[in-house]
Amino acid sequence: MNAALDIGEVDRFRESVLRWLGLDFDDSKRSFLLEVLGRRVHANGRDAGAYLAALEGPEGPRDELRTLAQELTVTETSFFRNADQIRALNEVALPDRMAARADTRQLSLLSAGCASGEEAYTLAACTRDMPGIRDWSVAIRAVDINTAMLRKAAAARYSEWSLRSTTPALIRSLFHLEGRDHVLDESVRRMVKFEERNLTVEDEGFWSPGRFDIIFCRNVIMYFTPEIARSVLARIARSLAPGGYLFLGHAESLRGMSTAFHLRHTHDTFYYQRRDGADAEQDSVPPPLPAAAIPAPIDPDESWVDTIRNASQRIRALTDASKPGRKRAAVPATPAADVRTALDLLGREHYAEAQKILDALPPERARDPEVLLLSAVLQTHGGKLIAAEAVCEELLRLDEMNAGAHYLMALCRESAGDFARAADHDQIAAYLDPSFAMPRLHLGLLARRAGDREGAARELRQALLLLQREDSARLLVFGGGFGRDALMTLCRAELTLCGEAA
Ligand SMILES: C[S@@+](CC[C@H](N)C(=O)[O-])C[C@H]1O[C@@H](n2cnc3c(N)ncnc32)[C@H](O)[C@@H]1O
Repeated sequence: MNAALDIGEVDRFRESVLRWLGLDFDDSKRSFLLEVLGRRVHANGRDAGAYLAALEGPEGPRDELRTLAQELTVTETSFFRNADQIRALNEVALPDRMAARADTRQLSLLSAGCASGEEAYTLAACTRDMPGIRDWSVAIRAVDINTAMLRKAAAARYSEWSLRSTTPALIRSLFHLEGRDHVLDESVRRMVKFEERNLTVEDEGFWSPGRFDIIFCRNVIMYFTPEIARSVLARIARSLAPGGYLFLGHAESLRGMSTAFHLRHTHDTFYYQRRDGADAEQDSVPPPLPAAAIPAPIDPDESWVDTIRNASQRIRALTDASKPGRKRAAVPATPAADVRTALDLLGREHYAEAQKILDALPPERARDPEVLLLSAVLQTHGGKLIAAEAVCEELLRLDEMNAGAHYLMALCRESAGDFARAADHDQIAAYLDPSFAMPRLHLGLLARRAGDREGAARELRQALLLLQREDSARLLVFGGGFGRDALMTLCRAELTLCGEAA
């Protein structure tokens, strides 16, 4: 049935899927799209040209788009998924929002991309069981584009698989068995209102300002293009009350996506809190993550001069990505030559000279994130860790999702003997940028010194993997004067000390 379809048609199909559903399929998914397209063309009884033309029309064919949503979305979910986040919900987000809403005694929660309802019902169960909430009015909305999943959610009957992250005590308190189905208790079921909704489509009535206290949008934006994810997150930011909470999937972050939130790190997990009144003016949709912010493949033949030139461009990109609402227009860019010269000197271990170049920059330049970052690196190399920490703090005030600044903070805290905060900053850096090797290596070293050989080995193995592909610009800046090979050798030696054959 696919014989007549060509690559051009699959690409047109992919464009329509992106336009209507926001879902982004890269080239590796072409054969999957080809299969779905073939099936849909056949089911519609038309040729591919007519089918694609209908999808490309000004109005999406509603029923067909519903079917495509069912065919193309990933709907994996479970009750009480990611236990750490659920603890943060119960112990931080819900009590905090109840305190904030004590006057109206109304709470509003949303599961955005709720699939078959497990997440929304988890929110309901947690909220229902909050101390002191009995006479409150609690509204829990749950939306998804996949109508088959919404029907399943409304039925509220689940297999054991949906309960794989739920404790036996909770299963007993929330469900009763009918045959092999676990049927959800009516008191929880009636707390949630489900509705078909496409997150990529604007609806000012639904996404009204400050409406929600807590939004879970986990494992959804990862399927969108960065542009679409940014627009969905802007809608979410608008509809969250100041101080309200956003939970994303554990592999998703707001770095380069939104500047409307503070990052929170408790209960071994990450989540976000909407900035409130005083700093709400920092809200903005950040510019797209520059291509240069994505680690470059290693070029073993790259000359030192090329490394420096590429590094200065890439460092600018790495620091530019997510600063909150800075208005750059009035301030001309830092002369690239200065940063390049400072980097060159850094690479040659002439730290004091490099710092002199940065010190000589006009005062308005000195607060550029790239200059602050380099300055903090140089201070760290020069052993001036108190000064480095002050620079990092300034940089984090401008851009609290700057992974490099968190890593440097980790080094500073370690030198102050504050190992817990050091590990905390490393974890934040690794979460914000999962391809960043140095915080993993540092976490490994901290863990081994603390006698946690298993944890150390886990981090060091990960560091070793990441180092193979680590950006050469980032190694130059954060490698502490060591090259890739030296750092990998260090990882292997540390792994041996942990009792592992590296
Ligand atoms: C992997 S599930 C996540 C379920 C739940 N949030 C969790 O983490 O357990 C992703 C869900 O997002 C939904 N989704 C994808 N694109 C969407 C869109 N444009 N609008 C609304 N929902 C969408 C899918 O239908 C799917 O049910």
